[in-house]
Amino acid sequence: MTKTLLRALAGETLPTPPIWMMRQAGRYLPEYRATRAEAGDFLSLCYNSDLAAEVTLQPIRRYGFDAAILFADILLLPQALGADLWFVTGEGPRLSTITGPEGMRALKGKDDIHDHLAPVYETVRILSRELPAETTLIGFAGAPWTVATYMIAGRGTPDQGPAHALREGDTETFEALIDLLTTSTIEYLSMQVQAGAEVVKLFDSWAGSLKGDAFDKYALTPAKRIISELKARHPGLPIIAFPREAGDKYVGFAKAVGADCLAIDNSVSADWAAETLQPDSCIQGNLAPGHMVTGGQALIDETRRIVQTFRNGPHIFNLGHGITPDADPENVQLMIDTVRNG
Ligand code: CP3
Repeated sequence: MTKTLLRALAGETLPTPPIWMMRQAGRYLPEYRATRAEAGDFLSLCYNSDLAAEVTLQPIRRYGFDAAILFADILLLPQALGADLWFVTGEGPRLSTITGPEGMRALKGKDDIHDHLAPVYETVRILSRELPAETTLIGFAGAPWTVATYMIAGRGTPDQGPAHALREGDTETFEALIDLLTTSTIEYLSMQVQAGAEVVKLFDSWAGSLKGDAFDKYALTPAKRIISELKARHPGLPIIAFPREAGDKYVGFAKAVGADCLAIDNSVSADWAAETLQPDSCIQGNLAPGHMVTGGQALIDETRRIVQTFRNGPHIFNLGHGITPDADPENVQLMIDTVRNG
């Protein structure tokens, strides 16, 4: 019997939607915190294939999600391209910055990334052996624009200001970076698929800050290039696109880029998405992550409402963004029970 997540991605309307959660392996789980401590720090955990596989499996064991997402980070690719990367506890990622053509010249090429990323491919191989037969393995990468925002600013920024400034002030350097990220993301995801990933997801967390033509050039076009090349190399590979906070730009996105599923954030209404987006593709989402902190009847009501709203088309239940470290693990169980038992 085909796995439920793959059936939804193939366009089937199921009586109960398959369910998984962004950042399901994470700091809200005590067993994650213990394994991260064993690894030493977050990046050491990402590059320790046995422990990265272990934290991927933890939420599957605890909750029986329908999918597992490879434990890694979107910023491992820039590191493989030669950027310095480190994480400041309590603050987030830091990277060396790309501010002009000399920064681009210092980076490696798209085919030079695999030695560095070999532990990630090994994590995928371990997972494809160890996951339960009914659980789908999702690989992922950041979309070029989102990864570029971190490589340009050297950190997360509230408005992606430095990336927009380079885009406008030195378009040539900016486009060279988007191009390198587009081609290397194809190589990176293709290797994840060869290692055993059954689905891939492209995270464009900052797509919403690109407007108008800029959205089409730097969010839509790179996604389309990545997806069409992956589908040419791996016929039938299901792909989830997540142009977060795209708003009206969600309309037609899945068809335009060739994605099988559009993941939506919780700033758009489920009613609107069911009517406007779901006829084009499977929809993934879109419970507000805050319910995993607050729980109670509001969590139950919202979960039921989202399941009901998307029940007439292909749907994968998920949050609108990653679960936060202050979430209560019992609320995750309550969400799953509500999705599965009504
Ligand atoms: O979803 C999963 O469970 C799979 C693993 C995964 C991680 N990061 C692990 C992680 C995935 C898919 C990501 C994607 C990612 N990483 C994105 C895109 C999705 C999104 O959240 O918007 C982005 C922008 C990043 C970059 C990144 N990684 C930031 C900004 C941070 C710091 C913020 C934070 O939550 O601490 C990270 C760290 C990170 N990546 C953690 C995890 C579990 C927390 C690290 C820790 O354990 O201390």
